[in-house]
Amino acid sequence: MSELPSLYGGITSRRVRTSDLQSAKERGERWAMLTSYDMLTAGIFEQAGVPVLLVGDSAANNVLGYGTTVQVTVEELLPLVRAVVRSTTRPLVVADLPFGSYQGSPEQALHTAVRFLKEGGAHAVKLEGGRRVAPAVELLVAAGAPVMGHVGLTPQSELVTGLRVQGRGEAAADVLLADALALQEAGAFAVVLEAVPAVLAERVTKELVIPTIGIGAGAGCDAQVLVWTDMAGLTPGKPLTFVKQYADLRGVLGDATRAYVDDVREGRFPGPEHGFE
Ligand code: KIV
Repeated sequence: MSELPSLYGGITSRRVRTSDLQSAKERGERWAMLTSYDMLTAGIFEQAGVPVLLVGDSAANNVLGYGTTVQVTVEELLPLVRAVVRSTTRPLVVADLPFGSYQGSPEQALHTAVRFLKEGGAHAVKLEGGRRVAPAVELLVAAGAPVMGHVGLTPQSELVTGLRVQGRGEAAADVLLADALALQEAGAFAVVLEAVPAVLAERVTKELVIPTIGIGAGAGCDAQVLVWTDMAGLTPGKPLTFVKQYADLRGVLGDATRAYVDDVREGRFPGPEHGFE
C-alpha cells in the first residue's frame, strides 16, 4: 500500500479517509478518536487535531438522559450525526448504529447504515459484535459502507452480559480474537476493543492488519477512544478506571453559572456596557 500523509498536519484540505488510518497503522502512528454529539464540540475537536469523531450511541447517557445505550433510537441519533458532519471539514465522522437497528438481519443493517450515510452524511458506521455480525459487515462493505467493528465489552448487550471486562482467561481471549479476525475478514476497516486486558488487546493488535482502537484496553492498541464528557471532566461522579480527565469542565461550568446567577441577583449584570443606547 502506498504511503499516505500523516494524520497530524499532513491532511489539511480534505476529510480523513479509512485508507489514511490503515496507512497510519502501517507506519506505527497512533491516533486519538473522541465522541462528539454537537456542532460546538465537533469544531473544537477538529481544531485540536482529532482525526476521527464518533457520534456514539453513548449520546444516550451523555446527551439524552437515558440510563443505558439500549434505549436510544436511529431518529434520535441522526440529527446529532448531521450536526457533527455539517460543522467539520476534516475528521472522518463515524455513526454508531443503535441497539435494534441492525441485529435483525444483514438487510436491516444495510438499511440503517444507508440512512446514516445518506441522511446523516456520516462517512462510516460502527456496530457491536463479532462473528455474529460478520455477515452484516460483509454486506455493508460490499454495498460501499465503511464499517468499524466493536468487540469486548459491548454496552448494547449489557442486559445480557452486564458491563464487565471481557476476554479474561485463555478460552475467552481466543473467542475475542476470533471475533476480531472475523470482522477484519468481513471487511471492517478498524475494530474498537472495549474493556479488554491490555495483553490481549496487544495480541489482537499484532494479529490484525487493520487498526485497533482501545478504550480500557491498554496502550498496545493502534488508537484510543474516549467519551468526550469523560475526557473533559463533564461527566458527574468518579471517573471510570480507564478514563483520564484532561479538564474539570463540570467545575468550570458550575462556577461560571453560579457567578452569573449571583451577578443577576445582586444587580451586577447586565452592566451599562451590555446594553444599547
Ligand atoms: O458509543 C460510544 O461512545 C462508543 C465508544 C465508547 C467506543 O461506542
